[in-house]
Amino acid sequence: MARTATISRSVQVKLTDSGWIGPVRVPTRIVLAPMAGVSVQAFRRQGRRFGAGLVCSEMVSCAGLHHGNERTLGYLRIAADEHPLAVQIFGSEPPLMAEAARMVEAAGADLVDVNFGCPVRKVTKTGAGATLLDEPGRACRIVEAVATAVSVPVTVKMRRGLEDGSRTCLALGPRLVEAGAASLTLHPRSARQMYMGRAEHALTAELVSLVDVPVVASGDVTSSQRARSVLAETGAAAVMVGRAAQGNPWALREILDGPDELPERDEVAAELILFVRETVRELGERRAAGFLKKFYGWYLRGRFPRQLVQELVRLQTTGEVVERLLEEAPGAAFVFQRLESELPVGQEVTLELPISAYGGG
Ligand SMILES: Cc1cc2nc3c(=O)[nH]c(=O)nc-3n(C[C@H](O)[C@H](O)[C@H](O)COP(=O)(O)O)c2cc1C
Repeated sequence: MARTATISRSVQVKLTDSGWIGPVRVPTRIVLAPMAGVSVQAFRRQGRRFGAGLVCSEMVSCAGLHHGNERTLGYLRIAADEHPLAVQIFGSEPPLMAEAARMVEAAGADLVDVNFGCPVRKVTKTGAGATLLDEPGRACRIVEAVATAVSVPVTVKMRRGLEDGSRTCLALGPRLVEAGAASLTLHPRSARQMYMGRAEHALTAELVSLVDVPVVASGDVTSSQRARSVLAETGAAAVMVGRAAQGNPWALREILDGPDELPERDEVAAELILFVRETVRELGERRAAGFLKKFYGWYLRGRFPRQLVQELVRLQTTGEVVERLLEEAPGAAFVFQRLESELPVGQEVTLELPISAYGGG
């Protein structure tokens, strides 16, 4: 398709349309949200398989990268089949953010995303995340430093402002674009709101009218119908899907293609087994065993007997979890084999890091 089909504002797009952020082609208008403690490589690869046109890492600390922290470096491990991928960084010092962006680019990310939305105290007290919404000068210096440091497009994800009812994002958005942001994602809740109330997408529509770069609408997109109405209401270039995709990649497919039959139990169990296997490979058994516990409920609740989740979270090893799942859904073994055979082989990891970097091995 022609390169001129830029992800453009104000024109209502179809979810299945491809588009561009700068030179990066995005095959659909669904972006899988960055979520700390969730957006591991397995989540992102699965998201791409189920129709997300762009996937994001969770936020990565620029200070952690600067200090060569092994666990932080592990977030830069990118698989060949997850592109296009944005790696999100957070921090408050322009030179450190620029350095982090260079590392992210070197690791193979297609986009560097800057976090101006995290409301968590551990982050905001360092002057990073959502705090920067109230420091427009510094926020712009960060974007400028990052955009100057790398040749891949730089994008920004932000909240509406710090306080409820804030319209800070509307004043800041155009300035961030001037500073070099190639796209903006808005989660129109305040930092104070965390995840309460609803995302006020009327604000997203206003932002779309103020900037000439693609705007991505984040917040409460849970169904195909909702995705379409958010695109229509806002004129945004794409929707971002977060919580709805936790343990439920089928939601992405439904959002892209419209209502579908619910997945069979065997398919659900097979996807979870694949997710477990991939996550163990990324994080190592010890870290993965704890990390994965929240996913059991996300995948299985409403689809399998309630006691199964309780049982799985008490098991010590992921091997036992897989065994128990196969007992419950024996047909999952065949589905798993099929899934595995369809995954691209070789060239899986583009950045070689020792497994110890992920707490395992
Ligand atoms: C567990 C969790 C972790 C999150 N971590 C991040 C993050 O690291 N960076 C970020 O920009 N947003 C983060 N978010 C916000 C999401 O990207 C998204 O904007 C928000 O959840 C609203 O979308 P949703 O209603 O589709 O979930 C996180 C959200 C959740 C629920």
